[in-house]
Amino acid sequence: MNHFTDIHTTDAADLRSMIDLAVSMKAARAGRPKGEPDDDQPLAGRIAALIFEKPSTRTRVSFDVGVRQMGGGTLVLSGSEMQLGHGESIADTARVLSRYVDLVMIRTFEESALRELAENATVPVINGLTNQSHPCQILADVMTFEERRGSIAGKKVVWTGDGNNVCASFLHAAGQFGFDMVFAGPPELDPSPDAMGFARRKGAGVSIERDIRKAVEDADLVVADTWVSMHDNQSTRERRHNLLRPYQVNAEVMEAAGEDALFMHCLPAHREEEVTGEVMDGPRSVIFDEAENRLHAQKAIMRWCLNV
Ligand code: CP
Ligand code: NVA
Repeated sequence: MNHFTDIHTTDAADLRSMIDLAVSMKAARAGRPKGEPDDDQPLAGRIAALIFEKPSTRTRVSFDVGVRQMGGGTLVLSGSEMQLGHGESIADTARVLSRYVDLVMIRTFEESALRELAENATVPVINGLTNQSHPCQILADVMTFEERRGSIAGKKVVWTGDGNNVCASFLHAAGQFGFDMVFAGPPELDPSPDAMGFARRKGAGVSIERDIRKAVEDADLVVADTWVSMHDNQSTRERRHNLLRPYQVNAEVMEAAGEDALFMHCLPAHREEEVTGEVMDGPRSVIFDEAENRLHAQKAIMRWCLNV
């Protein structure tokens, strides 16, 4: 069995095989009703616990539907309603859940909680977002890019705004899939030096450009995310908005990027803040393909975890 805790700690060839599997599984059930089972039922007889310590729409629904399509059952749990939220240790929770279920997906706060869960579970653990990373999202994003443009290797991806958890996973992917990243945001919100260091050590080009219009020149992909993440203190909202306003992705920015550049956002988005509605709904936006591909990518991740 394998844990899927991060892009940079997963073998690059395994990441590639997960995307290939996701693409073929997506094609195999194209056009079918969502509740119809897949032809193969690799999760038959298995149960997955999906634990949420933060809100979620996409992760919650896509994991739940994905497990069901593959023949398994799900338990969707909120951290605050479990003993986990009332003093039981993560390690003991991991040991107990391993006696009941075959796989655990968790959305939590600190990466250290995810690691403790994985270290003490005897079933696979999947990272459904932490304060530091969001690997399932980025696997789906690489799949989405490649559906439109072919191999992402050697391409230029521009991250705009806050150098946050999703940005860190994009940097990890730059190292693993061999593409270049430019960060366009304020110095106060630069990405994690560890994530930038990983990408550079793997040979990816990583640079910082404070002028968003310069940053996006010749971009293959422009990416935005919320200016205030779930783990950010809400009292920093006004300061963050003031710092990030110059980094809004709007029609002018997409014009500077050139006509081949795609636009991505992991969602949920705040229209007219980090991105305008015009760009979100425009012809180069692939945001709803990204959301759909969470389902297919995560089905492949779960099969890899369980080796089925
Ligand atoms: N992109 C993403 O993970 O969305 P949710 O917060 O709705 O799960
Ligand atoms: N950076 C955002 C992503 C949400 C899917 C957050 O952590 O809130």
